[in-house]
Amino acid sequence: MAAGEGHSAEQDARHTSEVDWDALRARAVEVMGKAYAPYSRFPVGVAGIVDDGRVVVGCNVENAAYGVALCAECGMVSELVATGGGRLVAVSCVGRDGEPLMPCGRCRQLLWEHGGPTCLLLTPEGVLPMTEVLPQAFGPDNLSIAAPPT
Ligand code: THU
Repeated sequence: MAAGEGHSAEQDARHTSEVDWDALRARAVEVMGKAYAPYSRFPVGVAGIVDDGRVVVGCNVENAAYGVALCAECGMVSELVATGGGRLVAVSCVGRDGEPLMPCGRCRQLLWEHGGPTCLLLTPEGVLPMTEVLPQAFGPDNLSIAAPPT
């Protein structure tokens, strides 16, 4: 399915109104415990609900070559695509203390690509839509072409 196709705001709202944020954050904390972060000692975990109801997760994976570290969100998006694609409708990202963590700028772009404007993120300031997490985002629409099939 191409980015943005095959779903509606109504469908997103239906899914997100049912989000159990505590349970989603618990999944993020659980996977944070598996992070490979020996250099920063800052483990990150993230969990996302897909529009078909499944949950995908990721943790950060660092490297002795510091610059090639993979953020937790990269792992989550990889699982999303590798397990059938779909749209992220709700995401919880946590840092070392298990509290909500704002994704870095690059990862906000990843969430935009795979969740779009209606995807919700649990932030330190509460649940926010991606339109507030990444205002005036650059995305597939700017290219006037659909993203590659997922
Ligand atoms: N990190 C993430 O995994 N996601 C983010 O959105 C922010 C930063 C990781 C990268 C690195 O392994 C560690 O946190 C410290 O920057």
